[in-house]
Amino acid sequence: MTSTERIQTDRLRERVAEDLRRARERSTLLTDAVDDDDLVRQHSRLMSPLVWDLAHIGNQEELWLVRDVGGRDPVRHDIDDLYDAFQHPRADRPSLPLLNPAEARGYVREVRDKVLDVLERSPLEGRPLVERAFAFGMIVQHEQQHDETMLATHQLRKGAPVLHAEPPPPAAPLPAREVLVPGGPFTMGTSAEPWALDNERPAFGVDLAPYWIDTVPVSNGDYLAFIDAGGYDDPRWWSESGWAHRMKASLSAPRFWERDGDRWVRTRFGVVEPVPLDEPVVHVCFHEAAAYAKWAGKRLPTEAEWEKAARWDPASGRSRRYPWGDDDPGPQHANLGQRHLRPAPVGAYPAGESPLGVRQLIGDVWEWCDSDFLPYPGFRAFPYKEYSEVFFRGDYKMLRGGSFGTDAAAVRGTFRNWDHPIRRQIFAGFRCARDAERP
Ligand SMILES: [Fe+2]
Repeated sequence: MTSTERIQTDRLRERVAEDLRRARERSTLLTDAVDDDDLVRQHSRLMSPLVWDLAHIGNQEELWLVRDVGGRDPVRHDIDDLYDAFQHPRADRPSLPLLNPAEARGYVREVRDKVLDVLERSPLEGRPLVERAFAFGMIVQHEQQHDETMLATHQLRKGAPVLHAEPPPPAAPLPAREVLVPGGPFTMGTSAEPWALDNERPAFGVDLAPYWIDTVPVSNGDYLAFIDAGGYDDPRWWSESGWAHRMKASLSAPRFWERDGDRWVRTRFGVVEPVPLDEPVVHVCFHEAAAYAKWAGKRLPTEAEWEKAARWDPASGRSRRYPWGDDDPGPQHANLGQRHLRPAPVGAYPAGESPLGVRQLIGDVWEWCDSDFLPYPGFRAFPYKEYSEVFFRGDYKMLRGGSFGTDAAAVRGTFRNWDHPIRRQIFAGFRCARDAERP
């Protein structure tokens, strides 16, 4: 190894250690914010008890980094089954003989101490699993993804507010409500991003017809117009499965909204407040998003359209890591990482806009796309089939761009998230697109 390579490896180790520290700081904040009773309780059948998430984070870290990368003896072999997400659906998790809060905290600490030692000693090359610290990056993203899930559990939890944060920055003037994305090829996915997960790989060419896309997500004010126009009661705007779900679930407004006389209020992490009209709508399911788009004379973008709007640079023809370029996200670019406990008003973060002038693609709200979860051409499951492959072609729709509750380490221009089209507890909104004529 040359001295330059050694310096690069040292820097990579420092970056990993810092990302691991930041993830654990957040997990600790989310679990220390409530008492033990709250940690073991199930706040919704859709979610695990918070104490399950915490020990599961430690267990995945143990499996991949202590045992596989480090080749060390198990810390707690006996609990693997309890924290295997594929063995026990969320609804059943409270009845398992889980580690109690003190045991879970002790367990994740013990695993982390070993992992920091493994990080110091293991080469970050040679084996695909450790190449450019991939396995460590995968575990950082895993913990941050569970932190976002735990944040969603906090949103479902009843009771007084326990989380607090500064408000996000205000909107900046917006030159246009939609922009034309010219037709033609662009590169989707990635073969270069070191911590990209298997479903984002490899990079491949996609040729799209021209289309218009909204420069900002649909706001609460926009969405209210759909409600006021009777959008929830008119099957014309809904797909067949969307209408069936709307009837069965009695949908009439985004989740956490309530009528209060002649205005709407919402509950946000225990705070009841008037619905802010200028904020992106959040907690709507795919079916609601699609119905709004149809009512508005538009449609949802496909995943490829979302990604081209986010990454394609018309000047060079290449695809960027993020809308603003290749730099990692900073607080000026996007509302990420639970820094604020709400989306920023539509039109915020002008420094984060794409070359075509599309804003808030990263952060604020996950954006529903009208695409199913499919592998890219040339897909190879890595490091295990259960990461993505078992979900392909299931009853899922795609979500892009991350939310205010997504950490910068767990989102990028290529990042793909998926969920059932009826889910509303996630921090998901949407923006609209429409076809354009070929010139
Ligand atoms: Fe997990």
